[in-house]
Amino acid sequence: MLSARGLTRRFGERTAIRDASFDLEPGEQLAIIGPNGAGKTTLLSMLAGVLAPSTGELSGPDQRRTGWVPQQPAVYSKLSVAENLRLFARLERLPDPDAAVDAMLAQTDLTARRDEQVSRLSGGNQQRVNIAIGLLCEPQVLLLDEPSSSLDPRQRERLWEFIAGLSRGGTSVVYATHNVLEAERYGDRVLVLGDGEVLFLGSPAELERAVGDRPALDFEAAFVSFLHDRGH
Ligand SMILES: Nc1ncnc2c1ncn2[C@@H]1O[C@H](COP(=O)(O)OP(=O)(O)OP(=O)(O)O)[C@@H](O)[C@H]1O
Ligand SMILES: [Mg+2]
Repeated sequence: MLSARGLTRRFGERTAIRDASFDLEPGEQLAIIGPNGAGKTTLLSMLAGVLAPSTGELSGPDQRRTGWVPQQPAVYSKLSVAENLRLFARLERLPDPDAAVDAMLAQTDLTARRDEQVSRLSGGNQQRVNIAIGLLCEPQVLLLDEPSSSLDPRQRERLWEFIAGLSRGGTSVVYATHNVLEAERYGDRVLVLGDGEVLFLGSPAELERAVGDRPALDFEAAFVSFLHDRGH
């Protein structure tokens, strides 16, 4: 579905991502985890086609079928939910913007909120608008940067159920998260970044084995010491 080979991005002297390579299967969920500044947003931005790699190659679906949900919602808070979606549907030159807006409102359970101003919505519903915009292009690959960070536990559960539904429908999903347990629970595979390097890529079970049995620690604490052992 998507293939990255030796993706590298430099900002001046600093290398934000070095030599990242992986393939993504249809319907797969890949979680990207790692400390602040590890390069998660940089990697996702390159996969989304909004940031050019310094070197390396990326092949995947047509850019128009790649959905991007950035961490900071790019919505107009003074416009209504439906107005925001219509604006983005037009920007993406969708053949039938109104039909796409109705479909996305239904899919993200926002139909009842369609005429509300976005600034008046709760954080969870604003995040849904953000996701609805990413879904307008009916993506084959959906990329989300820390989608659950502003959500309460119930909204978070709903988000992961929703994402599971998308991946059952064949959409590949890549997301960054600081929630190691969430990555372990919902990712088919986990990619661990530290200072721009891919430190680990494999299943949650393999990550657990790599992190090792540290009886005194819960998984998150064990993960922190896994990074520490590798100099991060
Ligand atoms: N536009 C930019 N110009 C210069 N440096 C940048 C730019 N974008 C990112 N960087 C640097 O690249 C590195 C990786 O940043 P990135 O935002 O990808 O990390 P992250 O893993 O998403 O962090 P966080 O968990 O805080 O969101 C950091 O050192 C950052 O300062
Ligand atoms: Mg980031």
